[in-house]
Amino acid sequence: MDIIERKAEMREFSIRHRGAGRHVGLVPTMGALHEGHGSLTRAARRDCDVVVVSLFVNPTQFAPGEDFERYPRAFEADRAVCEGLGVDALFAPAPGEMYPPGGETSVVQDGLATVLEGASRPTHFRGVLTVVLKLFNVVLPHVAYFGQKDYQQTVVIRRMVADLDVPVEVRVLPTIREADGLALSTRNGYLSGAERKQAVCLYEALTRCGERFAAGETDAARLTRVMRERIEQEPDARIDYVELVRPDSLAPAEPARRGDVALVAVQIGATRLIDNMALGQATGVGRSGYPPGAAG
Ligand code: PAJ
Repeated sequence: MDIIERKAEMREFSIRHRGAGRHVGLVPTMGALHEGHGSLTRAARRDCDVVVVSLFVNPTQFAPGEDFERYPRAFEADRAVCEGLGVDALFAPAPGEMYPPGGETSVVQDGLATVLEGASRPTHFRGVLTVVLKLFNVVLPHVAYFGQKDYQQTVVIRRMVADLDVPVEVRVLPTIREADGLALSTRNGYLSGAERKQAVCLYEALTRCGERFAAGETDAARLTRVMRERIEQEPDARIDYVELVRPDSLAPAEPARRGDVALVAVQIGATRLIDNMALGQATGVGRSGYPPGAAG
């Protein structure tokens, strides 16, 4: 496995493989790899001739006061995981390599990037979209893999790719969960034992919403109330948002229909967690994804 730190070397690597007719897949990550990242990487390994995983804790998507400094860095462990998954190249640039001094240009998206996560974290998607476009321009993948776990991130990235004619195919894979349903996330590591038990309320809220919809409820206010009530049972949980939206447009879902997406953002103690589930999606742990059939 190649370890690449320089943008020029990364681009040469991909140009060489593309020139030989090989299909290049990219899995963008911020490292501290877990099975969520693992499933994206395995999909890339199945689909593509050459698999690149990028490891870069992107400073521009963290606002001042967020967890950029304490976000875990685990290069040696990540390297071993990638070796084990048969990754061809690990792209791990330093911040100064990715963002040399003097940069003035970034990707700003109106609308989709300003609601939900964008309302709570106004500069977040600007940082995400800018780094993802830069990674696409440096790694030159045919295909890039993202997790449904960060549903709005997949929506804004697809929008950017369409709007800016980016020649990369975006594939979205289902959320990987713990046995009790908690979505795997690097930030789960911040939770105390008591908080970890309470964190299952995100998944259970989404599951209850799905069950009520399956039983015939389509009133969005009632469905979101079911979710709020479950989350409010936990003493250390504070709701940031609980919403039901249309896929892709993220417009309010009223009345709710199959394929609409329930999204929750909840502060558990000092840790902010997000999760989502599509209505009509099988709710079992480790199963299914959104949109149906989009994985792979
Ligand atoms: P990161 O949080 O490291 O996640 C990298 C990818 O793994 C994202 O596409 C994310 O949705 C996916 N992922 C995380 N947890 C998952 C889970 N439990 N199941 C399935 N997929 C999961 O998302 C980012 O990094 C950054 O914003 C990035 C896109 C790399 C840009 O900096």
